[in-house]
Amino acid sequence: MIVAGNWKMYAGPDPRELADRLASVSGVEVVVCPPFTGLAACVHAGLATYAQNVHWEREGAYTGEVSAPMLLGIGAAGSLVGHSERRQYFGETDEGVARRAAAALAAGLDVIACVGETLAEREAGETEEVLRRQVSVLEAHARLVVAYEPVWAIGTGLTATPETAQDAHAFIKSLLDVPVLYGGSVKPDNAVELMVQPDVDGALVGGASLQVESFAAICEAAAAAA
Ligand code: PGA
Repeated sequence: MIVAGNWKMYAGPDPRELADRLASVSGVEVVVCPPFTGLAACVHAGLATYAQNVHWEREGAYTGEVSAPMLLGIGAAGSLVGHSERRQYFGETDEGVARRAAAALAAGLDVIACVGETLAEREAGETEEVLRRQVSVLEAHARLVVAYEPVWAIGTGLTATPETAQDAHAFIKSLLDVPVLYGGSVKPDNAVELMVQPDVDGALVGGASLQVESFAAICEAAAAAA
């Protein structure tokens, strides 16, 4: 079981307070994904720390980007790639996601690659086609995890039903043999029913990861569901 907190462009909780609270949680791998400016403090607090994005080159004229060796240099353990907000607002493509993931894995980072369909795509019956396209550019790796995040469930309070999540996870695993996390309005009160699904290997949590107590409660739910 893996629970990752995606703080997005929020300062997030105090890393030391969070690390203290999580010290009593066992049986689940907990990861935090703060904004770039918060990475060092999370590393120093002893949290497994991932960036929210990573570039495919080691260095170069790429204003606004950060490379895998730079992240490793400050003690980060991994990175998200292909979050739907990157795809929606910053023009991230499947090819770019593939390059970021491959370079980060080759450099030694763990990677959580995010996939998921929009509401329009689900309503048009295109969910499997979209997932196939997004997953097909990724290659299985011991340090690669996929996060299934239906775009219509992110930050909306709408959660996929456990059955919908299970179906999507099973489909993704039929394409690529890696752990699959669920993301999209995961809260303390819906975490267990999602994570007891056989192909749900944990959660990628946005809003509910910003408070120590709600994030810790989700981590405890994951440990109970393991
Ligand atoms: P949410 O975000 O939990 O706030 O829906 C999830 C995510 O975007 O990773």
